[in-house]
Amino acid sequence: MENLISLVNKIQRACTALGDHGEAATSLPTLWDSLPSIAVVGGQSSGKSSVLESVVGKDFLPRGSGIVTRRPLVLQLQKIDEGNREYAEFLHLPRKRFTDFGDVRKEIQDETDRETGRTRQISTVPIHLSIYSPNVVNLTLIDLPGLTKVAVEGQPDSIVQDIENMVHSYIEKPNCIILAITPANQDLATSDAIKISREVDPTGERTIGVLTKIDLMDKGTDAVEMLEGRAYRLKYPWIGVVNRSQADINKNVDMIAARRREREYFSNTPEYKHLAHRMGSEHLAKMLSKHLEAVIKSKIPGIQSLISKTIADLETELSRLGKPIAADEGGKLYAIMEICRTFDQIFKEHLDGVRPGGDKI
Ligand code: GDP
Ligand code: NA
Ligand code: MG
Repeated sequence: MENLISLVNKIQRACTALGDHGEAATSLPTLWDSLPSIAVVGGQSSGKSSVLESVVGKDFLPRGSGIVTRRPLVLQLQKIDEGNREYAEFLHLPRKRFTDFGDVRKEIQDETDRETGRTRQISTVPIHLSIYSPNVVNLTLIDLPGLTKVAVEGQPDSIVQDIENMVHSYIEKPNCIILAITPANQDLATSDAIKISREVDPTGERTIGVLTKIDLMDKGTDAVEMLEGRAYRLKYPWIGVVNRSQADINKNVDMIAARRREREYFSNTPEYKHLAHRMGSEHLAKMLSKHLEAVIKSKIPGIQSLISKTIADLETELSRLGKPIAADEGGKLYAIMEICRTFDQIFKEHLDGVRPGGDKI
């Protein structure tokens, strides 16, 4: 049976590729909103892009101090069979396969600049990137610009509010899982991630707390109270990570070495030894994939009825267009309808498969 997350990825891509063709006439925008995804939020330089990279296990994102992420990046990870070569694809460059992840980083930068100019300004228009690899878990993650408190040179005063609004628009959707990134070397009370996630998810039902920069804490202090959930309680346990420092990045420390060092850090530090089994990027990636799958499962009935509605809408739209229709527009509508039908079918099989066992959906 096809993996649920990769199915949701497909339908997300189909919705996006369709763009505004027929969008107003169909329930596509609602369908897109109903698909669960994971948004990464936090203050500027809290380590959001670094966490995403370690989850993926590849270097491909622009990172660094100051405002680097200036457009939302919708990242779809798709696991492919062992032995196949990994590659990346952008929605805005359909037929181009990237096998060098340095080129992926450059394209993200260039595509950001295309929309915003080489400024420090931001744009709400997302960049869509898919990574196909034997070494990833199936996930959809959204990297967002960091929350900030003041505008800097070259930014309008409204930027603080603009970023907040943008982040809000993603995390306010009830189907959004919030990955709240908080640096351990700052006071929890000032955590932008906690502040904004609390506004939309006060009980912490859909917020997963990630503590970064544990290696940078003041000597004599540790993150045990945070990691054990005693400082700020969420429904799911906090996960601590140690990402690469700026010096590591400058020295080109690779991902495998960084992950090994992270593992050693947690198992060799006396304070964290007892927590080591649920710390680190690899654990985070596995946990997120499992979690996303469970969320999707629980939403199947809702998504399914929306899909039926979308199919009906598309049929109406196609018959309204009549024949002959522009190959481009009609082709796209047919393509998405095909995907919806496949999706519908597989969901049905899935439901049939789990009902007898009494698995609750
Ligand atoms: P973002 O602005 O939230 O996306 O943050 P980035 O991922 O770009 O990271 C900002 C800076 O903090 C970079 O120089 C990273 O190398 C550094 N950094 C992030 N996480 C950690 C960490 O866990 N430990 C250390 N030492 N540095 C980190
Ligand atoms: Na940054
Ligand atoms: Mg970033």
